[in-house]
Amino acid sequence: MKHIVRVITVLLSLFVTAAGLAQPYAQKDFSMEVDSVLNLMTLEEKIGQLNQLSSNERFTGPVIQNTNQLEQVREGKVGSFLNITRPDILVQYQEAAMQSRMGIPLLFALDVIHGMKTIFPIPLGEAASFDLALMESSAQIAALEASAYGLHWTFAPMIDVSRDARWGRVMEGAGEDTWYNSQVAVVRVKGFQGEDYTDAKTVMACAKHFVAYSAAIAGKDYNTVDISRNSLWEVYFPPFKAALDAGVATFMNSFNDLDGMPATGNKYLQTDILKGKWNYQGFIVSDWNSIAEMIQHRVAENPKVAAKLAITAGNDMDMVSLAYITHLKDLVEEGIVSEGRIDDSVRRILLKKFELGLFEDPYRYFSRTKELEDESIIANYRSVARDAGRKSIVLLKNENKVLPILDTKKSTSIALVGPLMKSQRDMLGAWAGRGETKDVVTVYEGIEHALPNTKITYIEGYNLENNELIALPDLSKFDVIIVAVGERHNESGEARSKVDINIKASQQELVKRLKSSGKPVVALVMGGRPVVFSEMEPFADAILMTWWLGTEAGNAIADVLTGKYNPSAKLPMSFPGHLGQVPVYYNYKSTGRPWNPERRYTFGYIDHTILPAYPFGYGLSYTDFEIAAPVLDKGRYAMGETITITTSVENKGQVKGKETVQLYIQDVVSSLTRPIIEFRGFEQVELNPGEKRTVRFVLTDKDLGFYNAETQFVTEPGEFKVFVGNSSQNLQEISFVLSE
Ligand code: GLC
Repeated sequence: MKHIVRVITVLLSLFVTAAGLAQPYAQKDFSMEVDSVLNLMTLEEKIGQLNQLSSNERFTGPVIQNTNQLEQVREGKVGSFLNITRPDILVQYQEAAMQSRMGIPLLFALDVIHGMKTIFPIPLGEAASFDLALMESSAQIAALEASAYGLHWTFAPMIDVSRDARWGRVMEGAGEDTWYNSQVAVVRVKGFQGEDYTDAKTVMACAKHFVAYSAAIAGKDYNTVDISRNSLWEVYFPPFKAALDAGVATFMNSFNDLDGMPATGNKYLQTDILKGKWNYQGFIVSDWNSIAEMIQHRVAENPKVAAKLAITAGNDMDMVSLAYITHLKDLVEEGIVSEGRIDDSVRRILLKKFELGLFEDPYRYFSRTKELEDESIIANYRSVARDAGRKSIVLLKNENKVLPILDTKKSTSIALVGPLMKSQRDMLGAWAGRGETKDVVTVYEGIEHALPNTKITYIEGYNLENNELIALPDLSKFDVIIVAVGERHNESGEARSKVDINIKASQQELVKRLKSSGKPVVALVMGGRPVVFSEMEPFADAILMTWWLGTEAGNAIADVLTGKYNPSAKLPMSFPGHLGQVPVYYNYKSTGRPWNPERRYTFGYIDHTILPAYPFGYGLSYTDFEIAAPVLDKGRYAMGETITITTSVENKGQVKGKETVQLYIQDVVSSLTRPIIEFRGFEQVELNPGEKRTVRFVLTDKDLGFYNAETQFVTEPGEFKVFVGNSSQNLQEISFVLSE
């Protein structure tokens, strides 16, 4: 029988091609082929396509052992796998699928979040680069490597707008701003999928986690999300709509409940909005075991009810819970779920398999594994990773121009302090794909290599396991002391929420002790989230946020420390000055009693400023830039007219550098409360000393809009302000009136 299916599909595709309709797969209409296969399938085989299993090689959730997998595949009970990363095993599983009655190929997926083999900075770090082309390139390389392993699909980009740094998964996204998350979503989707995700050198992307998972109350992973309908549309939906408009192939729903219903069983999200209003034609995969976990949510008595909730709400594929493969047949035979609903999910999944060309050649992704050992290809990918790394490093402080450290006689002796200087594993961070620790350039190696004429001395400073301080040697012989502090690779990521995001007290104490030497102290802060380090801040002359930068971490950090690369990154997420501020973000609302530390009855705290230690959009350079006040092409605009904002930026310093000129808006009076400012644009400008460049932003009334009380996207006439500057807290403004 399987031969009949394959004969049909090949004949049909030959017919289409012969008819001169040869096109990349993505443009082909495979509905005829899909229906021809669907009509040959039994109900059990249809349900098998909705069943996704994880390999037992690695688990990315609570362990669910699953045996006899090849047998299940041969019986047509599985449509997809995740977490198989060995090409030989992938081939073996695909061969088993070809032995099934229908011979329908498997889809293979993995969390390729910031690289497959070449590991890039974590997404939050890369977002700090504000270099959209760079982020597209790194996703493209990740896709080239993932598809060379034989994978078809990555569970990325994660596009959850993240405001609460206690939530460990902020590392996976693009920070606190909705508009910026939307821009990053688009380029990451395009990076993974290319112009045509059916190209075997690309992978399908996955917009996750749909939706508002990052708004978990108190930053506790998996916790309830209780937000207004307006916040859902204003803050959390837009990046997913942007990903959809960019052609993202798949969606993944989220663990959290919203309006009292877990996203996996939430019809409003999946059917009314995503598949209905937004007309999404791809398929939705559940998150790990999230169908069965509706039992723990206590909205389903048992897996059968959970399966009914999920399929009825619009969830198409069941990741590892086995609820679908176990119960959907009964639910259909009992008339509780229609076979038509099953058919819709199967169609969506079969369509992707046709578009990926897997029916024509189930092994078409298995021809490039030799690239994984090609030294020149690897070197090229690593050079991009190094560039991504240095462009992700945020210079937070540089008193007395301690940095850069030049490899001249003046800096003859440097101390490198802290075990993170020599750690390889920690540089990869969480969700490191098939990145290999042995490939990582440590910070120590990077600096040693970059400063051949300088004496480098390593001092442990603290124990990496228990963080206890270790006695320091005499520090008087050093010209500069560089210390690495912050989170280990397993302190941010999934199921890594924290109540305390302070850098460990012992590490902050170490910085104080190092400074007691009177020598310049440079602190490298590592981690997967905004961290608090107010205790040590006064004792560090220079501070760099270096995130987890991946395979080329050491070289990237050395490039910045030595001035080979002048740091240009900006924070995509506010860094609190105190834990008690969390969640703290730049686009808060005025309230009826706007913040005024001079007056009592106003928005804020009596014991701390409401402002973060370092705000969204903040980042220093080794040079100084001057941004001019914004100028408008006129003072009044009608709806539909473009609004041109002109400013300029000048390099007033001594070295070449790159500034990210930022644009924000304010709707002065609106029918619903809106943030005090809203990020709406940026332009990166690289200037030599003394050089000046005009920067122009063009807005339309669409850029000024928001979701009103009826969740309609509107732009209301009235006064607006636009702001330009180098961070959300350093801006110059000008007003205009928008009329009907
Ligand atoms: C995990 C994560 C999700 C990931 C999936 C598969 O639990 O929530 O982001 O893609 O399971 O690994």
